[in-house]
This record gives sequence, C-alpha cells and structure tokens, in this order.
Amino acid sequence: MTEPVVETEKLSKFYGDFKAVDGISFQIGQGECFGLLGPNGAGKTTTIRMLYGYTPLSSGSLKIFGRDIRQDLRAVKQHIGVCQQEDNLDPDLSVLQNLLVFARYFDIPRALARQRAEELLRFFALEGRSGANIRELSGGMKRRLVLARALLNEPKLLILDEPTTGLDPQSRHQVWERLEELKTRGLTILLTSHYLEEAARLCDRLIIIDHGRIIVEGAPAELVARYVGREVIEVVAPTEEMRDFLKRQRADFEDLGHRLVVYNQNGDELFIHLAKDFCRRGCTLRQATLEDVFLRLTGRELRE
Ligand SMILES: Nc1ncnc2c1ncn2[C@@H]1O[C@H](COP(=O)(O)OP(=O)(O)O)[C@@H](O)[C@H]1O
Ligand SMILES: [Mg+2]
Repeated sequence: MTEPVVETEKLSKFYGDFKAVDGISFQIGQGECFGLLGPNGAGKTTTIRMLYGYTPLSSGSLKIFGRDIRQDLRAVKQHIGVCQQEDNLDPDLSVLQNLLVFARYFDIPRALARQRAEELLRFFALEGRSGANIRELSGGMKRRLVLARALLNEPKLLILDEPTTGLDPQSRHQVWERLEELKTRGLTILLTSHYLEEAARLCDRLIIIDHGRIIVEGAPAELVARYVGREVIEVVAPTEEMRDFLKRQRADFEDLGHRLVVYNQNGDELFIHLAKDFCRRGCTLRQATLEDVFLRLTGRELRE
C-alpha cells in the first residue's frame, strides 16, 4: 500500500475540560473519498479544522502526505484545498476576482491563475457569471464557487465540510456529479456530511463519530450489511399482537410507538408473514440504507 494521504493517531481537541474530539485514529489512502459522519456537535468540523491547520491539536498525532502537520504546516497547506462549512466569499469582489485574489495566497502567477480560474468556472457551470457580484448568486452557485476556489491550487487533498448542506436537490446533484468527476481523476477527498445518501454515494469508506469518538468505520455497503441487514420493514400504527409476534420471532426491531422499524436480516419470510397476518394499516418493505445504520448507532434524539 502506498503511504496514506492522511494519518491520525489518537487525535484530540479539548476546550477546557470539554473533549470536542476525543482520540480518533484513521487513515485515508491515495485517491480515496473518505467520509466523516456524525450528528450535530459530534466533532466533524473540529476534526477537519485540525487537518488543515486552522485549529491546533490538543494531543495525538497527525500526518498529511507523510509529514507532521505541526512541523510542516506551510508545506502541507500548499497541497490542500478546503471548502469550509460557511461560504466565506468576499462580497465586495466579483466571482472571478474572488478566485484571482485567493490565488495570490498560493503565489500562483497571474496568467496561470486566470487560466485555472476560467477552467474551474467552466467545470462548475459558472462561466457565464464571472463578472457577477457574489450577492447575485444563488446558494448553489456560491457553493460551486467555493468548490472552484478550493481547487485553484490543484490540491492533492480536498477537504469539504458539509458541501451540500442547505442546497436544493438540483444543486446538490450537480455538486455530487462534479465531485464524482474529481474522484475519477484520482483526487483524495475528505468529506463531512450529515446527508447519508451523499455519503453512501460518494464515499469509499467512512467513519461515524459521536461525542468526539469513532463509533464505526467501514465501506457504506459493508456497514449497512453489518448493522442493519438487507431490508427494513416499516410498520405504521402497530398493534399489540404484532409486537408480540415480532418478539416471539426474536425479530430485531425498534419500537417508536406509532411506528415499528424492523431490521430484516434474512429473506422475505418475515415480511410475508407480517403482511398476511398483521399489516392492516400499512407495512412497507424497503432496502436498508446508511441512514438506518446512522440512526441505529447514534440514536433518534435531537441534537444541538
Ligand atoms: N471554539 C470552541 N470552543 C468551545 N467549544 C467548541 C468550539 N468549537 C466547537 N466547540 C464544541 O465542540 C463540539 C463539536 O463541534 P463541531 O466540531 O463544530 O461539531 P460538528 O461539526 O460535528 O457539528 C460541539 O459541542 C461544539 O459546541
Ligand atoms: Mg460542523
């Protein structure tokens, strides 16, 4: 195996006594799209801020491109592209100017910066907007511009903090397609998200963190198979007989009161039986998803 692009060992961040990130270890390989998932307040943003040197680590070790971030931050940062959780564009500059000014931080020569900026605007379907003011852009356009900006220095590692939060479905799908294209070009991507559909589609491997700790790690399909199974049966307005039946069957299910979520590990028999004898008010059989894994492992109570 080639050297990992990112390697953390017991990475931690404390704010006073509060452990925002509490000893997490993971590796990201070359060309991998790696997901960092977790509920609000889990420590996703804090983790990736340490990775791009925005927040110093409290303890543990962190290597990027094989270099210790505490010794080689400047050199490492040259090859990282970052898309922060908030769109921090300069509202006083045009679309193109936002890119050109940013290119100066990386000492990219003017002519080259302009050429790359124009290419990236095309890549993100913003070429008609290069003279526009930031205030005239939709949420989706701003996100795409932030992504374009993150690629100006031709990074070897792209770090994205909730790249599609708040976007409409069209914009979200467009971002996903662009990211998939970047993946096929071999770019290593680290992505945080709380959209499980996004993570399942884009990530080769992911970790779910909660309260600053890793709960699970694996490929999306593998996690679904391991923690949920093949299918899920959703039951609306369950009866007591149905609950008794499921208990007798030793079925694996969650009781939400007005609804049951049955994790179906093997075959259709259980569903057929339920549908025939118990499901008068509605039973749905569907494929298990990463969202089921997430809710199972992090619970259903509201966060922050
Ligand atoms: N500068 C800070 N000072 C104190 N607490 C912080 C600071 N930044 C983040 N936190 C806390 O650390 C926890 C993790 O935050 P964050 O990494 O932003 O979570 P996520 O991105 O997963 O939603 C939260 O409880 C948050 O309130
Ligand atoms: Mg965050």
